[in-house]
Amino acid sequence: MSKKVISPRGTVTGSLDLPGDKSISHRYAILAAIAEGATEIQNFAAAADCQSTLECVRRLGIPVDVTKERVRIAGAGLDGLKAPRKPLDAENSGSTIRMLAGVLAGQSFTSTLTGDSSLRRRPMRRVAEPLRQMGATISSKDGDRAPLEIRGGKLHAIDYTPPIPSAQVKSAILLAGLYADGVTTVRESVHTRDHTEIALCEFGAEVESVKGVIRIQPRPKLAARQLVVPGDLSAAVFLIAAALVLPESSLTLHNVGLNPTRARVLDFLISIGALVHVASLQMRNGELVGDISVRHAPLTGGKVSGSQVAEMIDELPMLAALGPFTEQGIEIHDAQELRVKESDRIAALAEGLRRMGAQVEEFPDGMRVEGRSKSKSKLHGAKIDPQGDHRIAMALAVAALGAEGDTTILDADCAAVSFPDFFATLERLRGTAKS
Ligand code: S3P
Repeated sequence: MSKKVISPRGTVTGSLDLPGDKSISHRYAILAAIAEGATEIQNFAAAADCQSTLECVRRLGIPVDVTKERVRIAGAGLDGLKAPRKPLDAENSGSTIRMLAGVLAGQSFTSTLTGDSSLRRRPMRRVAEPLRQMGATISSKDGDRAPLEIRGGKLHAIDYTPPIPSAQVKSAILLAGLYADGVTTVRESVHTRDHTEIALCEFGAEVESVKGVIRIQPRPKLAARQLVVPGDLSAAVFLIAAALVLPESSLTLHNVGLNPTRARVLDFLISIGALVHVASLQMRNGELVGDISVRHAPLTGGKVSGSQVAEMIDELPMLAALGPFTEQGIEIHDAQELRVKESDRIAALAEGLRRMGAQVEEFPDGMRVEGRSKSKSKLHGAKIDPQGDHRIAMALAVAALGAEGDTTILDADCAAVSFPDFFATLERLRGTAKS
């Protein structure tokens, strides 16, 4: 368990390229495995979660070769995966277990998916239920939590409306739809990230998406591709927030993924006063990519609710932790999903921010973090247990930049789940790195 001490000083200045997007890297790895031929992926995420996906792909008999420049996956076609000898370990990664469940539902062998103690606590009925409707047999020892034993086979096409907005659930069904006996339909009441639809089209699948109704044709011939993963916007947000916390900061982030189903967080930040600009927009492998620049500015504060929640789900911890640095505070509703992420993020944030002296009200579906107008005292340094959750560790580390006195983040290594170089990057941008 490594700890990190954050001293509140400096500014963040400079420019950098971010590591590859975690969500997109998972999808490229999984689709490359069931495409025909060798796919090469540049800027594949260094995130531990995506390394878990690569390891699962290897254990399904697919050669994976990793160099500094690229990941090369020798796909074996839709029916080329081999029965794994041992359970597939998704470790901390919800995307890995849920999306792979979709692919494994269509295989002629039985496999088991498991994960670490956090993942084994998270709800899996949301994927098991539609996959069972398609004809897979999914059993689990502990209700509908991992480990999941998946007996795949011939699948029926379904027309399914997920009861909760979830890109992972949508993706699992679409991936299973590749193996179905007809056109599979997913209906979304709230748009979730559409990287799976885009990546499927890139690999040659036929996917149609109109007004929240997504249809996929079965048994396409998926062809290997040369792909470049955009920088991870969800990682970028922690650095953007650091620039908003520390006066006189100015930062440019190059080649960041700006897919509209992910970029709503930038609109929100602009709406509360952040000076954020995007430039050099271009399309790469069907994904919008561009440069983001941010300058420190006073923040007014605001509310997040309804469909905004799904669009900014991974950014809510950082937005909540910005609350004490705004005038009116940050209020979040309709976000009960935060309670079943890598940790109960509402409880973890409330505890961490209160330890630092913030005024926090917790709701079943969200929280209110008071701003300067109600909470007169500044945040102070504290000892923070991020509860093994990467986004809690990073969000509270950024808040610590604006506190009085040092903050210790226990188990800071957990940031590696999505952003292995987070603390080193922050130190470098603040000019505090030891050379
Ligand atoms: C993800 C979808 C979201 C998000 C997660 C990544 C994805 O989860 O929180 O970090 O890559 O599809 P849900 O599908 O559970 O909302």
